[in-house]
Amino acid sequence: MKIEGKSYKTIWFEKNLVKIIDQTKLPHQFVIKDLKTMKDTVNAIKTMEVRGAPLIGATAAYGLVLSIIEKNDLSFLKKSSEELIASRPTAINLKWAVDRMMKKLSGINDKDILKIALDEAKAITEEDVKFCKNIGLNGLKIIEDIAIKKKDTVNILTHCNAGWLATIDWGTATSPIYHAHQKGIKVHVWVDETRPRNQGANLTSYELNEEGISNTVITDNAGGILMQRGQVDMCIVGTDRTLYNGDVCNKIGTYLKALSAKDNNVPFYVALPSSTIDWSIKHHKQIPIEERNSEELSYIEGVDQNNEIRRVRIYPQKSKSLNLAFDVTPAKLVTGLITEKGICEASENGLRGLFK
Ligand code: MRU
Repeated sequence: MKIEGKSYKTIWFEKNLVKIIDQTKLPHQFVIKDLKTMKDTVNAIKTMEVRGAPLIGATAAYGLVLSIIEKNDLSFLKKSSEELIASRPTAINLKWAVDRMMKKLSGINDKDILKIALDEAKAITEEDVKFCKNIGLNGLKIIEDIAIKKKDTVNILTHCNAGWLATIDWGTATSPIYHAHQKGIKVHVWVDETRPRNQGANLTSYELNEEGISNTVITDNAGGILMQRGQVDMCIVGTDRTLYNGDVCNKIGTYLKALSAKDNNVPFYVALPSSTIDWSIKHHKQIPIEERNSEELSYIEGVDQNNEIRRVRIYPQKSKSLNLAFDVTPAKLVTGLITEKGICEASENGLRGLFK
């Protein structure tokens, strides 16, 4: 998708370097950063220079490429794979991408390993672009139906950033929105600010602005009243881990939006590529929920009048805070799952119907 009219992907490989858009600087500064070592990729994931389930999976895949460039040695590669998987706990894409790479590389001799690793990392990114595009084409039908019935602008609420910045291109939750916009359907997006890291305000609103899509940032607590007032036609969010039964784990606050949507008969869709499905976990309580540094809550960042990024504390030093990064929305609150293979019910039957 575009930034200042120029098309970008969120990650690419050039001259033995992994190139990323540093998302900690957005929307105030657009910085392309070079990742030179496997450790650089681990840090980029931990500090959220790259974030969003599909993108951290792709970054981990390239992390293994850098690991081979640094030291073509099996035990180093294995240690790298463990470090990458541990860099963030909740999104299953990290493990999915690392396992896929390691399977591809097993038994490959030293001479061929780098080329095969690079080809596989590229295949992971290209596949994600294709899947996200298909999610958009599948989700477009839902927006189209609402637009035909309503004969007016379709108002869509989204949480966090499940946009192209969270993937390689298109996004998951935003892909149907981009496709609708490109087809000339009038859409407006309510963007949850998404405290504490403000991915909605900083990233979703930014990328929608760059694509010329009408959007309004709202506080995380405003979705309920907008739904009561009939100002939300549908919700679409992303997911970091989708269980076999259709339960979805996504950015903290998603669950409360789904409850509000249910109470107000607003359709609540979750968009996902199959790489976020975890078939192994039987109960959502087994999902490791990331707990991040409490300073992400007590400090806030923005720009001053000189456009310099500043970080300030916003509440008493003595106050304790708890920074849970994700929550689980039970399948019963989800209207449907929008995947690369089609739309299905959020249930085991639904998912198994699309993914054998
Ligand atoms: O903590 P983040 O910013 O990595 O969380 C991202 C999300 O919760 C997204 O909704 C999810 O990864 C889906 S991205 C297509």
